[in-house]
Amino acid sequence: MTLFPEMVLQGLNTSIIGRAVENNAIQIAAWNIRDYTNSKHKKVDDYPYGGGAGMLMQAQPVYDAFQAVKASIGNKKTRVIYLTPQGKLFHQDAARSLAQEEALVFLCGHYEGIDERVLEEIVTDEYSIGDYVLTGGELPAMVMIDAISRLVPGVLNNEDSASYESLHNNLLEYPQYSRPEVWEGKHVPEVLLSGHHANITKWRLEQSLKRTKEKRPDLYEKYLDQKQK
Ligand code: ADE
Repeated sequence: MTLFPEMVLQGLNTSIIGRAVENNAIQIAAWNIRDYTNSKHKKVDDYPYGGGAGMLMQAQPVYDAFQAVKASIGNKKTRVIYLTPQGKLFHQDAARSLAQEEALVFLCGHYEGIDERVLEEIVTDEYSIGDYVLTGGELPAMVMIDAISRLVPGVLNNEDSASYESLHNNLLEYPQYSRPEVWEGKHVPEVLLSGHHANITKWRLEQSLKRTKEKRPDLYEKYLDQKQK
């Protein structure tokens, strides 16, 4: 649910997510909140009571747009995610859990936010994609949709690739190399050319551990905690 449906659709209709939509592995629809305003001039925002800077999105068009979205998915119960810097930080764990849901609704705010009453009425989850402030919820929604969709079976070509990469078990991905064997005097690590799969697996795990410890000590701690359990 957005005031800028074309932004979301253009962003998500390319590359891997676009292909997944074409193959029907996932479906993405954008609902224009402005289409649901009762106002003659198609207005969706107004001044905040009590004063202060900026405009607020009004409750009515957001609520009516949500009723239309809900009807379109057979009035099933669904999680409604509001994108806001006040939400909990979005992580891979949340992506994994949200990827199990049959349907998800993302509510993208603009201006200075949305009338609190409609948020209380329809929102089930609030997420932030990081501690910085964006101009609207569209980019965060696209970030979440991308991260969640790639975990849905059939979206990635090779099912394995979703589980064997960065942040699996809280480890970063090992370094990778492609042809040529020597580039600008730099050699591909010998073990990768050996054809010895057990050694390659061992080397990759070592590299993942080393990298995570160096680049993301916070994740490394999580990895150690999780291993102990
Ligand atoms: N809206 C504005 N900034 C945001 C952020 N960092 N995360 C989620 N939604 C937002």
